[in-house]
Amino acid sequence: MSHIPVLLNEVIKFLDPKPGNIILDATVDGGGHAIAIAKKILPDGKLIGIEQDNNILEKLSSKIENQYPELKNSNILINGNFRDIDKLLKPLNINALDGALYDLGMSSLQLEESKRGFTFLKDEPLLMTYKFPIEPGDLTAKEIINTWPEKEIADILFHYGEERYSRRIARNIVRRREKKPFQSTFELAALVKQSVPYRPFHRIHPATKTFQALRIAVNNELEAISESFEKAWQFLIPGSRLVIISFHSLEDRIAKNFLKSKKQKGEADIKTPKPITATEEEIYLNPRSRSAKLRAAVKLKII
Ligand SMILES: C[S@@+](CC[C@H](N)C(=O)[O-])C[C@H]1O[C@@H](n2cnc3c(N)ncnc32)[C@H](O)[C@@H]1O
Repeated sequence: MSHIPVLLNEVIKFLDPKPGNIILDATVDGGGHAIAIAKKILPDGKLIGIEQDNNILEKLSSKIENQYPELKNSNILINGNFRDIDKLLKPLNINALDGALYDLGMSSLQLEESKRGFTFLKDEPLLMTYKFPIEPGDLTAKEIINTWPEKEIADILFHYGEERYSRRIARNIVRRREKKPFQSTFELAALVKQSVPYRPFHRIHPATKTFQALRIAVNNELEAISESFEKAWQFLIPGSRLVIISFHSLEDRIAKNFLKSKKQKGEADIKTPKPITATEEEIYLNPRSRSAKLRAAVKLKII
């Protein structure tokens, strides 16, 4: 299955890219949004796409080369973490942006092809890093569950997964790892399943929240998001737009509070009093859009 960009029409509407604009796509991934944006900023605009996963970035680069040669000069792809945008934009001599897009979380490419353990539906090593290639010393899910204290694991599951059985799961993880450390997603998913009460009509797999929590912890996602929004805001010029798509309540809360704080300071006009969600039709065509929430704001001139 290929990646279908979420809320694409709405992204274009709220970002409103125009010829000549410089737009940041902080989570460029397979380029679903980026290519549509790049077409709007021709002939002399620039789309700066940041992505932590270099495997994906290389695929996007050849996709542009082969399928969209007309966009080649307007796309600048950078492998890095969006929390470092200031450092990443500096060598490009870019000091101002006309728009910035964040489409947070993991991509369907990572879920389906990365073999890094993002899903409990496949038996894969427990890495869960967006970053690829990883380097020695990079945190992985395996390190967390095989070495971190029980309380810290429980706290992660509770705070990042909103998992009500966090203590019980953490206790069982520690008991089990003393006999045999965890290696794979199936081992972890089986343990979580055994640790929570059986509910025949449960809508989601019992390991969903644990996997979400570990992924957030491994990638230090919430801090990276907060730090990056602040930095991106400094680059946005008056009249430019920030568009954020989130996929769970923790991300959405950060986006909402960030925009609210800018509004309170008179720096932002929020264009989405309520977050925009996908239509029934989009959800049918792309189930990943079910939990997407889009928030957008225009940066105001500070007088
Ligand atoms: C939901 S996907 C984006 C999909 C993209 N908008 C599209 O339509 O093709 C999110 C991407 O953001 C990347 N990502 C997540 N956190 C990141 C970070 N801190 N810095 C850079 N990339 C990040 C992930 O690796 C993933 O590929």
